[in-house]
Amino acid sequence: MTAVDARPATATGALPETGTVLRFPTGFRWGTATAAYQIEGGATEDGRTPSIWDTFSRTPGKVRNGDTGDIAADHLHRMPDDVRLMKELGVTDYRFSVSWSRVQPTGRGPAVERGLDFYRRLVDELLAAGIRPVATLYHWDLPQELEDAGGWPERDTAHRFAEYAGLVAGALGDRVPTWTTLNEPWCAAFLGYGNGVHAPGRTSDLAALRAAHHLNLAHGAGARVLRDLLPDTAEISLTLNLHALRPLTDTDTDRDAVRRIDAVANRIFLDPVFHGRLPQDLVEDTAEVTDWSFVRDGDLEVASAPIDSLGINYYSPSVVSAGASESPSPWAGAEQHVAFTPAAGPRTAMDWPVDANGLYELLTRLRDELPSVPLLVTENGAAYDDYADPEGEVHDPERVAYLDAHLSAVHRAIADGVDVRGYFLWSLLDNFEWAYGYSKRFGIVHVDFASQRRTAKDSARWYAEVIARGGLER
Ligand code: NOJ
Repeated sequence: MTAVDARPATATGALPETGTVLRFPTGFRWGTATAAYQIEGGATEDGRTPSIWDTFSRTPGKVRNGDTGDIAADHLHRMPDDVRLMKELGVTDYRFSVSWSRVQPTGRGPAVERGLDFYRRLVDELLAAGIRPVATLYHWDLPQELEDAGGWPERDTAHRFAEYAGLVAGALGDRVPTWTTLNEPWCAAFLGYGNGVHAPGRTSDLAALRAAHHLNLAHGAGARVLRDLLPDTAEISLTLNLHALRPLTDTDTDRDAVRRIDAVANRIFLDPVFHGRLPQDLVEDTAEVTDWSFVRDGDLEVASAPIDSLGINYYSPSVVSAGASESPSPWAGAEQHVAFTPAAGPRTAMDWPVDANGLYELLTRLRDELPSVPLLVTENGAAYDDYADPEGEVHDPERVAYLDAHLSAVHRAIADGVDVRGYFLWSLLDNFEWAYGYSKRFGIVHVDFASQRRTAKDSARWYAEVIARGGLER
């Protein structure tokens, strides 16, 4: 194994490169990521009340095989072992999410100490293992009672979120250095309220746009609360699944299709959060069918509360053209005349194209558009149909190739002046993959859900070596 290069990180560009190693800057954050509903289980323990994902997964036909997160990877009871696994991997950071209805059942009122205790113990274990905790406050599991009161299409949900953020920050703020308000608000809004493939399963373009706005508001209000309560050194962040979009052909109509999708998928979050404005073209494109009066004076000022970094989740790019979508689309009204064409090349078990260039394209776009914002790749990874062989080993060469290609794209972006501070591999463990249930395995650690036995896949060993040498072997 090559020794880790001790030379200081350069802010941008010129990366130390030795021999045959693509070396990342010293201090680069090597992490893994998970989310509460996907791994914890313990759905009714310690006073936890149902979230929209408990309700949705119990609704017949919504999740493959009728799977639920009731037990998931049983992380609630196996957390110390899972932290030990991470210590063995050598990760510097761990990104987890807090289950809102575990710490504030029903989404209102005081925190439940028993619920918070689990996260206190998790943070203590992480710190004892030398791993930096990165806490996400909202990874899609809205307390069901808040959905019953209207959910994200209603502005009160944003106020409730800010209150909840204060409770968690009060309990963990002294020991968690990095905070993410929301994970992938696009999915929460457009898959949850637009096409209904995610909880709560509503199908209304207007509800999706309202949800997106109130998620922006929640983010900003939550960021303000965090800033007030946390030490000066705390890093406050937001994670977006920005879409790497390419026109199918180099024609004006396809380029315009990209513009429209960019507005409703990317700029609908980037513009309010970083510029305190709505994408004007989106407002104009949707004017006939959307009354935007749910955006009130002062909202965009709240949404644009200063933050310290931006997290990007990236899996694959989208190829867009003008024309009618053949299948029900996950996009709101602005895209009615836009079609998606699968990108060429190999696919993962999700049927997502493997295309690491999309990550490079996104990162360099952000360098150009938001030059002063440090970036974290807060998720990247792939599902494959892994199984333990008779020797109990899990060989996943496709995942290793996927990860290698995407880390190499991150390295190239850093060399080209993008300020990427870290990479969080999705995911530490096989887990509940939302509407796909347990049928898709994203982990670098295999979970046999019948016995809850964990087996490090080849990719876990590969990642441990990458971390230990500080880069990719070439
Ligand atoms: C993004 C989400 O944040 C995560 O929960 C999900 O499992 C992965 N993408 C893979 O789909």
